[in-house]
Amino acid sequence: MRIILGVSAGIAAYKAALLLRQLREAGHAVRVVPTESSYAFVGRATWEALSGEPATHEVFDAVPDVAHVRLGQGADLVIVAPATADVLAKAAAGRADDLLTTTLLTVRCPVLVAPAMHTEMWLHPATQANVATLRGRGVHVLEPATGRLTGADSGPGRLPEPHEIAAAALALVAGPARPAGDGSRTDLAGRRVVVSAGGTLEPIDPVRFLGNRSTGRQGIALAEAAAARGAAVTLVAANVQLEVPAGIEVVRVETAAELETEMIARAPEADVVVMAAAVADFRPARTAATKIKKTAGGAAPLIELVENPDILAGLGAGRRPGQVIVGFAAETGDERASVVEHGRAKARRKGADLMAINDVSAGRGFGAPDNAVVVVDQGGDVVAEATGSKREVADALLDAVGGLLAAAR
Ligand code: CTP
Repeated sequence: MRIILGVSAGIAAYKAALLLRQLREAGHAVRVVPTESSYAFVGRATWEALSGEPATHEVFDAVPDVAHVRLGQGADLVIVAPATADVLAKAAAGRADDLLTTTLLTVRCPVLVAPAMHTEMWLHPATQANVATLRGRGVHVLEPATGRLTGADSGPGRLPEPHEIAAAALALVAGPARPAGDGSRTDLAGRRVVVSAGGTLEPIDPVRFLGNRSTGRQGIALAEAAAARGAAVTLVAANVQLEVPAGIEVVRVETAAELETEMIARAPEADVVVMAAAVADFRPARTAATKIKKTAGGAAPLIELVENPDILAGLGAGRRPGQVIVGFAAETGDERASVVEHGRAKARRKGADLMAINDVSAGRGFGAPDNAVVVVDQGGDVVAEATGSKREVADALLDAVGGLLAAAR
């Protein structure tokens, strides 16, 4: 494959050198197109030595070749890493004042952009608007990783690790012979997906809580699969201890009330909302300000519970046209109805477009690596069945989501 690697001016440019090596070792031809100011971080000689190809920022270096047009036309994939706020702004505005920006206007292949900058610059409305513009055009903009930035700062803005950028970029180039649902599809490019995962904790006092055993594994698999298919993904993670892959925006919450606030804030922008979190149905009516103590010979305390809001039902009721709302239902069959019948009723009751029903009487425990679901639509028809790893289940569910999105166009 012919890959163009755009590099702009950031301290993380050194990671692009590692990315370049990995891409070359995987057998790809890579042409590096630096911006002029990026030479302050990594020089031209490094790019030329590692790629075995010339590296220039100049449009007028080899005029008879019309390099900016030829480069763009010959590319199978473009990666810009790191992408500064300035490069995002130029690309969003369609400016063309160097070889990288002119090339971005001529390419027709998938483009992956990995921004890296200080948190304030990343969160600035101007940058976020530019990112939204680019995503709207089908450019895959990775969420920056969260962590230590240059100096003492910490927050979202770090360049993801080179192998993570390579994996996300290569996943955008779908090989025609690959089976659907293996993470190689790009049917969610330009889409926004919000996934909740984990389990809520409802505090009783400063040290105790009511909770559940959900680990968030299925929600993370969904977030990862959606990102691999090109979506911009936000994971609203309730008490998730597992690692979340880079490129996924993570919002951490603890209680059902916090989860509801974050989901409602993000849902209006989302094309797809998935409620994979296990939400506590009840919470203590009051949280004691101090630790509840035993009293010698005293009675055990009674903890009064109140019902939590049904977040999925609220999202279903408040949805905008074309948006796809997905729920999960853990069910056991009983004398009144089968597992799937209970799930169907729940899909209708909560206004979910799709409900992934799993039979929890089958002994599949929380945190297990595999899962088995039957997916029904709002009318109760079975639209998918999947058994396998949580990633395979995620892809089968996203195939059904993709079908609904395509039908809504
Ligand atoms: N859910 C929610 N808010 C709640 C409870 C559940 O959004 N307060 C969502 C879950 O995230 C899941 C779906 O609703 O997507 C079904 O969850 P489940 O616990 O099976 O539903 P309940 O309404 O709690 O039904 P049941 O009476 O069977 O426990």
